[in-house]
Amino acid sequence: MEAIILAGGFGTRLRPLTYTRAKSLLPIMNTPMITYLLDMLPKEVDTVILAVNYRKNQIESYLQSLNLDKKIIVNDEPEPLGTGGAVKFAEKHLSDRFFVLNSDIICSLDLTKIMKFHGKMDAVGTISLWPVDNVSEFGVADVKDDGNITGFVEKPKPENAPSNLINAGAYLLESKVLDYIETGKLISMEKEIFPQIINDTHRFYGYQFKGHWMDIGRITSYLKIHEFLLDKQNKKNHIGLKCDNQGTLEKSVLGKNVQIGKNTKIKHSIILDHATIEDHCQLDHCVIGEHATVSNHNDLDYVVLGDNEVLSEQNNKENEIIWTQPVPEGYPKKQIGNVIGG
Ligand code: GDD
Ligand code: MG
Repeated sequence: MEAIILAGGFGTRLRPLTYTRAKSLLPIMNTPMITYLLDMLPKEVDTVILAVNYRKNQIESYLQSLNLDKKIIVNDEPEPLGTGGAVKFAEKHLSDRFFVLNSDIICSLDLTKIMKFHGKMDAVGTISLWPVDNVSEFGVADVKDDGNITGFVEKPKPENAPSNLINAGAYLLESKVLDYIETGKLISMEKEIFPQIINDTHRFYGYQFKGHWMDIGRITSYLKIHEFLLDKQNKKNHIGLKCDNQGTLEKSVLGKNVQIGKNTKIKHSIILDHATIEDHCQLDHCVIGEHATVSNHNDLDYVVLGDNEVLSEQNNKENEIIWTQPVPEGYPKKQIGNVIGG
């Protein structure tokens, strides 16, 4: 059985961190995000299809370094085809029933349970569902008590949302779903395909689960997942190998080989590998990129400093994204991918 991992987005809402890396490789507690997804795959999945385009070599090298006991197919789209187009593009590798997984999700979903539920309901497609307050950022399902989905709206206005149950980004689909997707086009699974399957087959289902779920789509959720995991693991901080910390830390994560100077206080922040924060700095809710430097006497709140950036001495900054290097070629100015037409 195959699992398609949708890892082709640019992750524009996570820039500048995604100027230099694929979104699915962003470290979460010092481990690339995609690892959490790979750990979720049940034994029935023997083939992982990586639906990629932007920064595909990075993703491929990382997957190869893991030596998984599963076949890895790197399915490189000539250009981003959207969530539906990417699934269609994998058609030649699919045999029967397959999983599709968004690559920016951290959750407690048990994929074997979704398989059981899907079989019991004789579904054409089953999607995982999670309740949220901010429905407008997600795809929202109209669901009957038995799990049958009768409507699906992607990113609705709150007043048009049929429920508070959103698509949690993991699907189990029968191969007939592929017949609904045109080849070689930019197509959104959520906007264009799900509504058609619902209307045509009446056998589209939603599976609700318990535990935790988070979409790591923005800097705020990137910070939040770390707070959540620190609490869950009952840790004050999480510190990588070979760090030299002379300051104080509170609910923060340090990658490997991070240097923190004297009289520096770091709260609720993530400092990636090989970064340096010099003396007399205060950081609160910040993300500091790999090999970046924050010089002496900086006071930063909600600041993201991109990889390899150097911030000069004595700044007082709030709510800023700092990136002074060229934006990579082909990186979109606006968010694309899954928000086609919206
Ligand atoms: N291969 C490929 N090609 N992958 C893509 C493309 C593409 O053109 N565009 C997006 N992706 C990948 C992203 O990397 C991500 O893993 C997944 O598809 C979903 O895209 P996002 O851009 O993250 O979508 P979203 O977060 O706005 O909304 C989606 O996820 C929500 C849950 O987090 C939708 O599926 C919503 O319905 C859902 O509620
Ligand atoms: Mg997302």
